[in-house]
Amino acid sequence: MFKGLILGILLGMLLIAGGVYYYFASGRAPVATSATPIPFEKTLSGMALHAYLDKLPHPEPQVPTDEANLVSGAKVYKQHCATCHGLPGEPKGAIALGMYPAPPQLFLGVTDDDAWESYWKVENGIRMSGMPAFKDRLTEKQIWQVAVLVKNADKIPESVKKELTANASTPMETAMPSSKQVATAPNNPKQTKK
Ligand code: HEC
Repeated sequence: MFKGLILGILLGMLLIAGGVYYYFASGRAPVATSATPIPFEKTLSGMALHAYLDKLPHPEPQVPTDEANLVSGAKVYKQHCATCHGLPGEPKGAIALGMYPAPPQLFLGVTDDDAWESYWKVENGIRMSGMPAFKDRLTEKQIWQVAVLVKNADKIPESVKKELTANASTPMETAMPSSKQVATAPNNPKQTKK
């Protein structure tokens, strides 16, 4: 009787493992960004991320939330984040529209993450989401500055808004400003006259 029970449980587990394997191996799992989510994909990945983050220390921001830091954060944001996360008053760009999961538009609403949590996400990235890790590409100070910026996205002063939107007509041009700069450079009369 007891042996039968164990055998039943083992067989059940084998069937489930086989079913999961078959689901992926037979090409039934969604792979395109526009396809429906894998069952429980969002729940499980969200659960894993939060369980992990909960165990970490939750430090206070290491830079004060003042105008200078917000402006520096805006410079970082424009160069590295706007392509995916958008700019105040700008429509979503092609990259943001084509991603799954969709990058939240950080100036449309405000993230409910505390600054330390955004710091962690920017430093380490998020697996299976397209959110890159910026560790070794940005300094700790720059990451705090941009984390404080997104935390305060709904109350940025005019100067910060200007920094974010200067010379920008689409997030794509903001992320890759070189062509735009040539077109509007004052020392290039051919370009500025038209
Ligand atoms: C290539 C696109 C891409 C770039 C560039 C990018 N991100 Fe992200 N980011 C994402 C995606 C996609 C998510 C959503 C992840 C998810 O749903 O699990 C995300 C999530 C986040 C979150 C969590 C938001 C929330 O409320 O859950 C923060 C904060 C964030 N990114 C900040 C940044 C910052 C700051 C930068 C620039 C230094 C940046 N990201 C650059 C794609 C990007």
